Amino acid sequence: MSLFYSKYFGGLGSIALSLSLLFLTACGKKPDDASAAAPVRMSERVALAVATDPAYPEIDVPPVWASDGKLVQPKDFREMVFIGAPFTPHGLNDGKAGFPEFHNVYVQPAAFKAYRATGKWPEGTMMIKELQLVDDPKGDFPDGSRIAPSGRGYFPGPVNGLDVAVKDSKRFSATNNWGYFNFNHAAPPYLVEAANKPVEQCAGCHMANAHEDMVYVKFYKPILTPLPTLSIAKK
Ligand code: HEC
Repeated sequence: MSLFYSKYFGGLGSIALSLSLLFLTACGKKPDDASAAAPVRMSERVALAVATDPAYPEIDVPPVWASDGKLVQPKDFREMVFIGAPFTPHGLNDGKAGFPEFHNVYVQPAAFKAYRATGKWPEGTMMIKELQLVDDPKGDFPDGSRIAPSGRGYFPGPVNGLDVAVKDSKRFSATNNWGYFNFNHAAPPYLVEAANKPVEQCAGCHMANAHEDMVYVKFYKPILTPLPTLSIAKK
């Protein structure tokens, strides 16, 4: 994300630079003056853009809280790190799956790196689960599966909901340090803000069943585990 920010705000910085050049040229000053002034403006902007929350020192994209304690919908979450997609289709649940979608799960880049390094999710980690329906609910077969050139299966279609879990031991000590938020189970736009759900609706099941620290981490371990290092074969 820091890369993204520096790219994005680097872009803004160059716009600021060009604008100040234009402005100074219009004022009849030498462009030399601009080169002295512009970098200051750029660094100010970058400092603002990447300012993190002191409550979450290890996190690059901190959760944002509204004054009433609701969680603000995480921005650009699809640009975070994708860690897996559990899937519970109607076809395998008597047509009554509560969540018939692919469950696409993302975490912040800093949380991903921290977990790889320490095996722990830092304060401020967000597990972001976007639901994605199959492309054709009727499919070609009674189980809703269909045929694609790659074979028979289920294929991703429209997105259909957003759930987020946030690790914060101060706010959510009563539910093993995690709070649970639903931004709608329907097509976008998703809600702008969401309140922490009562324990029986979300946290309870995670407390009772999750593999490790409230997360069903076994499903994401294959992607959380670094690939073997490549070495060039010696003759
Ligand atoms: C009956 C049990 C149960 C309930 C209730 C439940 N979850 Fe989960 N949740 C799971 C399971 C199992 C997974 C992993 C497998 C999957 O996604 O199908 C999961 C995965 C997640 C994930 C991805 C990270 C992880 O822990 O694997 C998030 C985020 C999440 N749930 C949020 C919520 C929210 C928000 C609610 C309430 C609106 C909720 N869950 C209610 C069982 C539950």
